[in-house]
Amino acid sequence: MATEIVKFPVPVAPAGPAVARLVVTDFRSYETARFETAPIPVVLTGPNGAGKTNLLEAVSFLAPGRGLRRTKLSEIDRRGGNSPWALSIRLTTDDGIVEIGTGRDGQSDSGERRIVRIDGTTVKSQAELARLTSMIWLTPQMDRLFTERSSARRQFLDRLVFGFDPEHASQLSAYEKAMRERLKLLRDGGGDSTWLSALEDSMAAHGIAIAAARGETVARLDHACSTTTGAFPQARLALEGEVDGWLRDMPALAAEEKLSARLQQQRRIDADSGTTTFGPHRADLIVQHVGNGMPASLCSTGEQKALLLGILLAQARLLAAHRGNPPIILLDEVAAHLDAERRAALFDEIIALNTQAWMTGTDAALFAELRGAAQFLTVADARISHG
Ligand SMILES: Nc1ncnc2c1ncn2[C@@H]1O[C@H](COP(=O)(O)OP(=O)(O)OP(=O)(O)O)[C@@H](O)[C@H]1O
Ligand SMILES: [Mg+2]
Repeated sequence: MATEIVKFPVPVAPAGPAVARLVVTDFRSYETARFETAPIPVVLTGPNGAGKTNLLEAVSFLAPGRGLRRTKLSEIDRRGGNSPWALSIRLTTDDGIVEIGTGRDGQSDSGERRIVRIDGTTVKSQAELARLTSMIWLTPQMDRLFTERSSARRQFLDRLVFGFDPEHASQLSAYEKAMRERLKLLRDGGGDSTWLSALEDSMAAHGIAIAAARGETVARLDHACSTTTGAFPQARLALEGEVDGWLRDMPALAAEEKLSARLQQQRRIDADSGTTTFGPHRADLIVQHVGNGMPASLCSTGEQKALLLGILLAQARLLAAHRGNPPIILLDEVAAHLDAERRAALFDEIIALNTQAWMTGTDAALFAELRGAAQFLTVADARISHG
């Protein structure tokens, strides 16, 4: 199916990686669907339940991980279908066309493993995807980010870090693996102290790398968000956590030794409580609205949304500068919650970034300003048509 494009926007920056074709099979409400897109923003409109967010979720599998809904992979299989879900995505990049295949591996032990093929070759690590493109998203579930538990903000921050440092994902899983093993030993009665020390050293090495990468990303974003002069509110960002504080006062190696020693001290407490009571897995991202001096958690719903969008747009600009091209941006139901001025500012930013932003909404009229600069797709009953 060819895509009808009325007029391309004036490129302000080099175009980023973009989806040129998407084929989905047994993916949520879609038995099968296939469509082509141009490297300009995509607007998906249609009634509630049509399948708009499902398509955004499909595109989100261009990033490592479990997609923008963060559900179990088996939940994505189409109910009533008879095969695990699969996606085939043609991506245009600076280096040419890349064919990506991904889906749930129904043969794996847990049934929760995801296979990723790049140009026909199965890759060992999903982190390979992060080398091809970066991606950021905003969903209605994220409206509660500033009032939720700190784990949600850490995950949000870690996804931002991936864009700068694809290795961050392996650092996180190595840290968590050592943390689980140590806790198991402690719960089982202490075990061998040499082995515990080795695990604590491993946690310290990975933990300090994690805290340092987060700290760097927060500093970059804080600078970008506190100096912005657009339609989105200025924000101050800080990483709160004891380990994170050490890194501001001492070299990484000294912080590593200190963390390892602290973990050793905590053994008894951790064994008694059955949790790891200290470490970078306890950090929090603190955001403040500069305009009214309020912590984000005390801002109005609209202010929180604007703060979050401002942070994500700053991240998009930083990534564009850092990687040489902008991320793919997925915005689920964002336009409906913005006033007309902010909506226009958002569209201007997207055009200026020259990114293939994917936006959804029930009301096509809200995207009228993008006519001629974006491609419009209508979704109804898991069917996609142009126009
Ligand atoms: N695993 C699945 N198998 C079959 N259908 C599913 C599965 N998961 C979700 N669905 C259905 O997919 C349909 C479309 O969902 P989706 O979230 O994409 O709608 P939407 O167009 O974004 O709607 P809204 O405007 O309300 O956000 C829903 O009716 C949902 O129940
Ligand atoms: Mg939706």
